[in-house]
Amino acid sequence: MALDISANPIGQPVDRIDGRLKVTGGAPYAYEHRLERAPAYGVIVPATIAKGRVRAIDAAGAEAAPGVLLVMTHRNAPKQPAFGPPRASARFARARPYLGDDRVRHWGEPVAFVVAETFEAARAAAALVTVEYEAETPALGLERHLKAAYAPETINVGMKTDTSEGDFEAAFAAGPVTVDATYHVAQQHHMALEPHAAIASWDGDEVTVRTSAQNVANTRKALAATLEIPLEKVRIMSPYVGGGFGGKLGMRAEVVLAAFGARALKRPVKVAQTRQQVFSNVGHRPEAIQKVRLSATRDGRLTGVSHEVWMQSSPIEEFAEQTASSTRALYGAPSILTRHRLVNLDMQGGEPVRAPGEAPGLLALESAVDELAHKLGLDPVEMRILNDTQIDPEKKVPFSSRKLVECLREGAARFGWSDRPKAPRERRDGPTLIGYGVAAAIRPNYLGPCAATVRVAEDRTVRVRTDMTDIGTGTYTILAQVAAEELGVPLKAVTVELGDSRFPVSPGSGGSWGAASSASAVLDAARKVKAEMARTDEARVFEATGSVKGMRETQSYKDFSQYCFGAHFAEVAVDEDTGEIRLRRMLGAFAAGRILNAKTARSQMIGGMIWGVSSALFEEAVVDPRFGHVVNGDLGEYHVAAHADVPNVDAFFVDEHDDKANPLGAKGVGELGICGAGAAVANAVFNATGVRVREFPITLDKVL
Ligand code: MOS
Repeated sequence: MALDISANPIGQPVDRIDGRLKVTGGAPYAYEHRLERAPAYGVIVPATIAKGRVRAIDAAGAEAAPGVLLVMTHRNAPKQPAFGPPRASARFARARPYLGDDRVRHWGEPVAFVVAETFEAARAAAALVTVEYEAETPALGLERHLKAAYAPETINVGMKTDTSEGDFEAAFAAGPVTVDATYHVAQQHHMALEPHAAIASWDGDEVTVRTSAQNVANTRKALAATLEIPLEKVRIMSPYVGGGFGGKLGMRAEVVLAAFGARALKRPVKVAQTRQQVFSNVGHRPEAIQKVRLSATRDGRLTGVSHEVWMQSSPIEEFAEQTASSTRALYGAPSILTRHRLVNLDMQGGEPVRAPGEAPGLLALESAVDELAHKLGLDPVEMRILNDTQIDPEKKVPFSSRKLVECLREGAARFGWSDRPKAPRERRDGPTLIGYGVAAAIRPNYLGPCAATVRVAEDRTVRVRTDMTDIGTGTYTILAQVAAEELGVPLKAVTVELGDSRFPVSPGSGGSWGAASSASAVLDAARKVKAEMARTDEARVFEATGSVKGMRETQSYKDFSQYCFGAHFAEVAVDEDTGEIRLRRMLGAFAAGRILNAKTARSQMIGGMIWGVSSALFEEAVVDPRFGHVVNGDLGEYHVAAHADVPNVDAFFVDEHDDKANPLGAKGVGELGICGAGAAVANAVFNATGVRVREFPITLDKVL
């Protein structure tokens, strides 16, 4: 496409400026960085019980194995501060000890660490470490322990645990039409293509760790706290990240153990978690049971909405997904009740995973809304439009922008919704039943405090720096676009440098705040540089640091409720004899403020939608009720949607500019695509078969 990108690059579908490096091996991931000194290789030995202690550990065989340089266990690991109480406000920045004592708190927790000259030697020696455990009976199984449920003080992002507007119970008792349904969402895992990895190297008392982190500043703080050394002595570099999905928001074992190993051996040490280890050592989306109750008038107006959630947590570390939080803002019912409860099991704690809370929460809520529309005999698109609200029912303030209705209408038109099978089992194609489904998308729009520097050299080339990461989303590209547009230079003149803790601090990639936050800081820096350049004719270097305040310090986040919206439409074919479910096509319509790059933003939406398909149809970690380990802990058995599963997925944006969000008018797109996507697929399965599956994933045995 011939683009005049130098004139107006923001929003253009510019190819990723790091694309060529990524496909030619020029963009090193954490494990691939080449250092001057050859590294030694570390391998983690995981615990094979869920709870108890290490009674004896025999490392002699491993120590005597060829090429082995170090075997570390709790007996010879450096002293570390305690992990602290399960609740912590800045939990990604706190100390995270490994091999700190003889306790085993969950399956897969590291009990030994072996370093050798080669990876193969380390792996072979790791297999020779024998551990004798004193096992205790673990608490496992969410349903079995529901009686022990408790209310956490807050849920993720500091949101309220419970809310209640109006009198839901009275509304529900009055009906006249109600739905009362309980949904179950399986434990899910992040599954970034690049597993967690780190290379640590020491120079005197300073450590540099090249790792795969979503948030460099937090990783730096957490490592400094764990090693008990000053922050200035820690440098974290994470220039390329092969996917995060929440699993790389916090520092993990490979970073700490690589740093220990490198310090002990006085040479660089590299460590990667295996795919199996990633299932037990970086957190997961907790298994959850969700009860949704709806009441409505006969013409489809919601009178009450209730969403109650019970999910797994851990005695080590508390984490509560904000599962019912979107329910507080999606529809304008006069009574809305939401509630979150936790059940501590002897497993690793939960972590944010791809739209924590909203993704599984909308799977349930938007299925229930479909159940209601079916009961009422209403078009589920029209019923959603009927219940739209421009005032946030919880916060009682207007939305900064809300184009849910536009997404539903335009999506329906482009998808051909009017041609849908009106009743289940109405349409067939050969041996398959065809069904259409719709669901709404909603996700909070966040802004994090961020800084960046912009430097214009004498030759008018531009350099942008921030510790922001690019987790495969397009950060490099959009920051170059913003700088190029503001400074009036061609995109090619801009170099973006990311992911180094020596650069100005960003909120990292998470919560879908990355693009808006970092681009706003770059815009501010570019404006400052431009103003400085306008004051003089001198040919010299100009440099400025720009910043943006976070949402907590920004008035427009108090005066307005900030969310992104969308609508998903799905068509499935279900084989009547085998129950095999095939997605045929899917379309998402989204409103997310100003779009900074039409190509990378669309890719993100499609990626999110695919994860939604995955959670509706495939993803399920099967946890062994005796040992607490994931039985299907690899990508062969834990199926995430592959190409053949998502033949035709498309997305578009409705025009929007949100001047309440930030100086760019952009809102977050990262996690919006997964929100509601699974429910559209589930609703299509119902429309095809007449079977309402409330236990996700919807495998073929459940529709037969
Ligand atoms: Mo996202 S689950 O906040 O990385």
